[in-house]
Amino acid sequence: MSDPSRALVTGGAGFIGSELVAQLVDCGWDVVVLDNLVTGRWENLDSVNLPDYAKITGDIRDEALLSRLMVGVDTVFHLACRGVRFSLHSPQETHAVNATGTIAVLEAARHSGVRRFLHVSSSEIYGIAGGSPMREDGPALPTTAYGASKLAGEAYARAYGRSYGVPVTIVRPFNSFGPRAHHEGDAGEVIPKFVLRALAGQHLTIFGDGKQTRDFSYVSDTARGIMLAAKEPQAEGETINLGSGSEMSIHCLALEVLKVVANDRATLHFDSARPGDLPRLCASTEKAQRLLRFFPKITFSEGLSRLIKWYGRDSKLAVDLLKRDVVRNWVVING
Ligand SMILES: NC(=O)c1ccc[n+]([C@@H]2O[C@H](COP(=O)([O-])OP(=O)(O)OC[C@H]3O[C@@H](n4cnc5c(N)ncnc54)[C@H](O)[C@@H]3O)[C@@H](O)[C@H]2O)c1
Repeated sequence: MSDPSRALVTGGAGFIGSELVAQLVDCGWDVVVLDNLVTGRWENLDSVNLPDYAKITGDIRDEALLSRLMVGVDTVFHLACRGVRFSLHSPQETHAVNATGTIAVLEAARHSGVRRFLHVSSSEIYGIAGGSPMREDGPALPTTAYGASKLAGEAYARAYGRSYGVPVTIVRPFNSFGPRAHHEGDAGEVIPKFVLRALAGQHLTIFGDGKQTRDFSYVSDTARGIMLAAKEPQAEGETINLGSGSEMSIHCLALEVLKVVANDRATLHFDSARPGDLPRLCASTEKAQRLLRFFPKITFSEGLSRLIKWYGRDSKLAVDLLKRDVVRNWVVING
């Protein structure tokens, strides 16, 4: 498939979405972004050569808006969603956006006849199914409303492929990190929170025993994998993990951040476990390698150094940013 001329990116003002939009624009794609800015920010796209008229503030559940935006679009990249910690305090709204919202985007894409619908799912759908590394054809037993709603979104995407011939590809990124990742409120992710707390000389809180593992990828690799999946003809109808294939415990992660930031005042602190937290996440990368020739380029250490550099090793900035940090951030409504 040659590069399509026009892409609609839902959630393109978010963390991964903004990196994806930057890469698409760099590769010459004509991009329109739809985002309601609940967690995203147009500032995330400040360095991207994207005109203001291509930045649409709106909701994926607005069917009339979706039909208008879909005109002339070849490829939909569907990333808009509410996250895992939000889902713990607001499961119904999570379902409304991640499942019902996904059908709305699929329905608009079906009527406009897109050449590819790239649905961005999540490793959280595997839940406690067990087995490591996790293979795409393995079981899915999500533990949170987020995981369940992402699995529902996948199921709808597949159904639209089978019932209506929408050319769907599903990717399941594992945990991503890098510039513009969320540290704030209920969107806050472990790596930016740890890095900022280490820079500020505060304690890094580990929930549970810290033995839970995650498979971390740098955001530029995740976005490149998403783009490759949309372009690869053989990926139509497929579900593909995007991860590094190696797992790191949260305890090791915290120790690594402390070592690299090297601020003597920063320490570790253990707190009770977060509900629904998964014991293990590690991607089988065989399918992404075979179908997409996808191999991560940025190692974990390189990515961590880049992120710390991006924050400028600035303890004052870190203290300031941490004003919007909430430690047990699944119990808050706003952040
Ligand atoms: N960050 C990760 O580690 C990770 C891992 C696996 C999967 N994912 C998936 O990647 C995608 C992007 O996640 P992210 O980490 O960049 O999160 P993010 O919160 O930064 O991005 C989501 C974007 O969707 C927007 N949005 C939310 N509800 C919307 C609605 N109703 N209408 C329009 N826009 C809406 C938000 O404003 C935000 O910009 C999601 O689909 C997520 O499930 C992320």
